Amino acid sequence: MRCHRCRAPANVEIRRSRTAYCARCYPDWFRFQVQERIDHERMFRRDQRVLVAVSGGKDSLALWHTLVKLGYRADGMYIRLGIADYSRRSQQKSEAFAEKHGQVLHQVDLEGDYGFGVPDLLDTRSGKPCAACGTVKRYHFNKVAADLGYDVVATGHNLDDEAATLFGNVMHWNTDYLGRQGSVLPSTHAKLVRKVKPLYRLAERETAAYAIIERIDYILEECPMARGAKSLAYKDMLNALEEEQPGAKYRFLVGFLKEGRAAVRTGGFDQASDLRECTRCGQPTTGELCAYCRMADRGRAKAAARAARYGPRPAPAEDD
Ligand code: AMP
Ligand code: FES
Ligand code: ZN
Repeated sequence: MRCHRCRAPANVEIRRSRTAYCARCYPDWFRFQVQERIDHERMFRRDQRVLVAVSGGKDSLALWHTLVKLGYRADGMYIRLGIADYSRRSQQKSEAFAEKHGQVLHQVDLEGDYGFGVPDLLDTRSGKPCAACGTVKRYHFNKVAADLGYDVVATGHNLDDEAATLFGNVMHWNTDYLGRQGSVLPSTHAKLVRKVKPLYRLAERETAAYAIIERIDYILEECPMARGAKSLAYKDMLNALEEEQPGAKYRFLVGFLKEGRAAVRTGGFDQASDLRECTRCGQPTTGELCAYCRMADRGRAKAAARAARYGPRPAPAEDD
């Protein structure tokens, strides 16, 4: 195959649009796609401050790289989740990126500042912390952005992530979540910062290709606590379908956002209604204590019980 732009031998094939690009033209194509989404969905403007949530993985670092290259005022934020070596290595990747590109990286240290880590939040049924971890991340994305005056939070969710989430929500008919799924979550309260996902139409292999071609050093391994999670099974299944039908993931997700979502928005859910401030931390919530503060109490109790039985966690080794 030849590059769609310069006719040189192609390196990256985009099967769903039956095109391909060489390694020199591909990054421009990728950045153009991101810019087009930002503009088309009015995600943010050039005069606004963007907080990019970075995990040290390919998607969020590719997003940060893209926004910086496109000339946006984009700082990073990294949450230390306390997942042993995995967290340490992803922190290193995020810090190294910030340093190499001369960017600001804010950090939240869950164990140091809040007294618990994600391993303290195992769900009793699934035995996994992923759902609680999602709550932790969303809470801190919002809190850091609101406290530091950012206009918008951008995450690295890609097409594969979003299609798998959609599939899971359809599997369980989570109509509330289906109605809310999207690439832009507007602010509906003074302390709720707008959230956007500029990569949501780009496949995982497309962000990986961008990261490799742009020599972004990212953490390859997946979170060890997510092993066996349902979302990974959904991704495998959608990838098998994509092999058979190029573009299946894209049509599934974008088709839903264009056609299906309005149909499931039955009007029962309105984010703006009944929001008040958490009596402890002041973040927006529907109850007295927000879900995060309730969960943090459980996490701290777990961490304290663990420390009482086994002593404090050993300090991490310094070598890698
Ligand atoms: P995940 O929930 O791991 O699929 O990650 C989805 C997105 O959340 C990533 O693309 C990042 O933008 C963000 N993210 C994940 N982990 C972290 C973290 N530890 N700190 C900051 N942002 C994160
Ligand atoms: Fe949250 Fe793995 S990153 S459980
Ligand atoms: Zn709270």
